[in-house]
Amino acid sequence: MKLARLMKVFITGPLPAEGRAALAQAADCEVEQWNSDDPIPRKDLEQGVVGAHGLLCRLTDRVDKKLLDAAGTNLRVVSTLSVGVDHLALDEIKKRGIRVGYTPGVLTDATAELAVSLLLTTCRRLPEAIEEVKNGGWSSWSPLWMCGYGLSQSTVGIVGLGRIGQAIAQRLKPFGVQRFLYTGRHPKPQEAAEFQAEFVPIAQLAAESDFIVVSCSLTPATRGLCNKDFFQKMKNTAIFINISRGDVVNQEDLYQALASGQIAAAGLDVTTPEPLPPSHPLLTLKNCVILPHIGSATYKTRNTMSLLAANNLLAGLRGEPMPSELKL
Ligand code: NDP
Ligand code: DGY
Repeated sequence: MKLARLMKVFITGPLPAEGRAALAQAADCEVEQWNSDDPIPRKDLEQGVVGAHGLLCRLTDRVDKKLLDAAGTNLRVVSTLSVGVDHLALDEIKKRGIRVGYTPGVLTDATAELAVSLLLTTCRRLPEAIEEVKNGGWSSWSPLWMCGYGLSQSTVGIVGLGRIGQAIAQRLKPFGVQRFLYTGRHPKPQEAAEFQAEFVPIAQLAAESDFIVVSCSLTPATRGLCNKDFFQKMKNTAIFINISRGDVVNQEDLYQALASGQIAAAGLDVTTPEPLPPSHPLLTLKNCVILPHIGSATYKTRNTMSLLAANNLLAGLRGEPMPSELKL
């Protein structure tokens, strides 16, 4: 009897329990894994993928032409443990007929929750206030000390009213937001109806918003979208939040806007590079709150993402419909 050949799967780091269990049950796969939570060094990644039929990667792994060449012609599926796909060379992947799995939807709530936390933390100056309590700067109650900006009666501008952008708007609406604006590639009247959100050019969104939340995907069109010109249009009382990708923002321009008082404050869950070096100028500013890319970081969400990524991979390898396939 001829034995079926096992398919090689390469995983670029340990998975949460649910994803791990799904792969452990796959009798038709031989799994190799980089056994550290630190990003796999490029050299090890290029060696690890050789001959692989499936690759399960993270947003920190660049899947480009060189890596695809190193993998060779066996490669049928790339499954990423993320909804963002800006680390994947999609043109090259498509050319080779490789299928792509990703994790939309399952992280929307967690990421929207984090975006709202970051917005409130930034506009009400919580890190500064906590620091004042600890360092003795809290001398007495006084009318304007530690004042910030509130959401009630405000205008919120959302750059990218996708799954996460809508979930953010849903959560902000009950705070008494008066008006929602959004930008994107095209109007989305159905999605926008819930918030009576108005589709406006990005310059108008910058000029009229009290809070701007960036929740678009990183593409050639959105890279560097939030630059000097954008920040100059913003009100100097406005708050800028980015949970998308660091490269959507020109960080030098953001630094200047914050340091000069051109805008009031910024909250970033994503930066360039990641991790941001502790000596980075943005970290010297009191009006900039920076988090280490934790948008989807709840135990449940990361477990669900890992299960979806594992199931995408297995379905792709077996030639079945994937639970979440990126249409190329
Ligand atoms: P969606 O695909 O649902 O939304 C992406 C949005 O980006 C769409 O509304 C799209 O607009 C918009 N967009 C695309 N091009 C442009 C453009 N040129 N100008 C303005 N908007 C544009 O994705 P999700 O909401 O699920 O995720 C969005 C992104 O959030 C991910 O790609 C990822 O980078 C990031 N993310 C970050 C996390 C974190 O931990 N901080 C966690 C999860 C995601 P249109 O509808 O008009 O095409
Ligand atoms: C993503 O999925 O793209 C996030 O950045 C991490 O969850």
